Amino acid sequence: MDNGHMDNGDMDGGIHGQWQHGRCHHHDDRHDEQSMTDALPDLDVDGIFEVLATGVDFPLSPRLPVTQLDHALQTAALLAHLHPGDDELAAAGLVHDIGHLLPGGTDEAHATDAARAVRRALGERVAGTVGLHVAAKRYLVATDAGYGGVLTNDSVLSLGRQGGAMTEEEAADFLAQPWAEDAVTLRRADDSGKVEGVVVGDLAGWAPLLQQLSRRTGAIGG
Ligand SMILES: [Fe+2]
Repeated sequence: MDNGHMDNGDMDGGIHGQWQHGRCHHHDDRHDEQSMTDALPDLDVDGIFEVLATGVDFPLSPRLPVTQLDHALQTAALLAHLHPGDDELAAAGLVHDIGHLLPGGTDEAHATDAARAVRRALGERVAGTVGLHVAAKRYLVATDAGYGGVLTNDSVLSLGRQGGAMTEEEAADFLAQPWAEDAVTLRRADDSGKVEGVVVGDLAGWAPLLQQLSRRTGAIGG
């Protein structure tokens, strides 16, 4: 299968270069990487939608007509379908890979970057769930014998850069974190939300849910 995942470091340069609100350019040395981390935006809901909309220009894999935006919408729709009424889980699905559309969005850092960017607007549960979705992959690889088979080629490749399968001790530490269970749920939807041609709701359709969530959760600082 060549339906690669967005965990693809080769795409970083293009994404950074075209991110419309980027405040710094992409460089490779450590000092500038640190600067970019410091410059990561703290997004409000409008900002989140503006960044997500840029995902229409970035395919998950060079050979597959599924974009970052398609993937976000599919993951959110799947979670909303499987967990009706859980607005925070669906919102986490929508924004989980927003780190790939922000400056510095490497395979390793994109989950924590995303968490940092959405925490104020969407609250601690969404941020915490998103922040653990890469760790959830490493956890599932270590603990679910059938899980490796659902990963796309690019996702398997990035696994090495992300630390590989968790050790038993790492898995125990992971499970002890808040939102670990949500992150595993998100991760399984993430892996399924990469299908060409699936018709799901558009980005604008999620605006009321995120606005409501922001008023309910983010407004108190999450
Ligand atoms: Fe994803």
